[in-house]
Amino acid sequence: MNGKSILLIIGGGIAAYKSLELIRLFKKSGANVRAVLTKAGAEFVTPLSVSALTAEPVYQDLFDLDDEAQMGHIQLSRIADLIVIAPATADLMAKMAHGLANDLASTVLLATDTKVLMAPAMNVRMWEHPATQRNLAQLEADGITRIGPDEGDMACGEFGFGRMAEPEAIFNAARDLLAGETTGPLSGKHILITSGPTHEAIDPVRYIANRSSGRQGAAIAKALASLGAKVSYITGPVNIAAPHSVTTIKVQSAQDMFRAVNEALPADAAIFAAAVADWRVDCQGDENRKIKKQKGRMPVFNFCENPDILASISALPTNKRPPLVIGFAAETDHVLPNARAKYKRKGCDWLLANDVSGDVMGGDNNQVTLLSPDGEESWPLMSKDDVAKRLATKIAKALSKP
Ligand code: C5P
Repeated sequence: MNGKSILLIIGGGIAAYKSLELIRLFKKSGANVRAVLTKAGAEFVTPLSVSALTAEPVYQDLFDLDDEAQMGHIQLSRIADLIVIAPATADLMAKMAHGLANDLASTVLLATDTKVLMAPAMNVRMWEHPATQRNLAQLEADGITRIGPDEGDMACGEFGFGRMAEPEAIFNAARDLLAGETTGPLSGKHILITSGPTHEAIDPVRYIANRSSGRQGAAIAKALASLGAKVSYITGPVNIAAPHSVTTIKVQSAQDMFRAVNEALPADAAIFAAAVADWRVDCQGDENRKIKKQKGRMPVFNFCENPDILASISALPTNKRPPLVIGFAAETDHVLPNARAKYKRKGCDWLLANDVSGDVMGGDNNQVTLLSPDGEESWPLMSKDDVAKRLATKIAKALSKP
């Protein structure tokens, strides 16, 4: 941590007292710490204690002339190598999830493109409330890393999840995040993953797309990186943030994606989670000119087949083929029979079948069945993050075998 710059945001919760110990740990490791203390945070720890421990002024008010003169809020959001929020209260999480910027802490968080680690702390009911869980899902999708909360007795007398992680655990998580998470069972492994939809141009302004949100693929990329893998995340156009600690390659069409996959090889494993368009418009006219509307005359499009990326990579010679190739089968009906046929046809090693007849596309949860040479394994309905973690752990196990 030597020489690293940490911006610590202290929210208003009883756990704020632990943030003083956290500052001490950061300082001991050689990091520079600047702190933003929210109005509510200052009810629990004094600016004097924070300033004495950080050996820096404490930043409290968005409209404080002295603070702004010393270091403006935009600058404050940019100088850090890592932003740590401890405690991250329900209120701070809600503001962040919705992009509010009505005090110094939330403004800094909206203005930054730095990695953010948050340590939530709140009453168990507040933590379990659907609103907080919705906000959490949004923040994780936005690429914010979370540590805790832990389970245990709380200051309010209740028991459950809501206690802030211990300062040492937050410190370790911050250190790993700064180190680019190079440790873990997948360290040294390169894994590529395709994700999201593809856009197939009709003309310069129109395209054919599909409803894939890319959330399952992004969750898998994140889970692999958190196990130490070097991840090439090849994504079609999506509205979600790319996970931290992965190499993001943005593409538009299936052909672009195919090219990017080949450029990213060699890899120890390749996962094809993208919803690739099977066809593209065989553009007869000038691809740089918008097709004009002609009264009473409908355009007729011819389609041609896109490359099947999964099948092509599965069919590569052994010296080029990633040793573990994983496909997806998103089906609306006859899920398993269709998936079994696809598994044979594509030539991949594993295939994850999922039913997309409900709100899976764009939703939070997924129910998958893993087809592999070991047989069929049906996983219960779980969050896309949990599917990702379970898959990443399985991949780590498979790649550790000689
Ligand atoms: O044939 P289908 O689109 O149902 O196959 C789904 C699987 O194949 C997914 O893993 C998807 O990412 C992959 N795929 C591909 N290239 C295509 C079509 C599908 O890699 N052109």
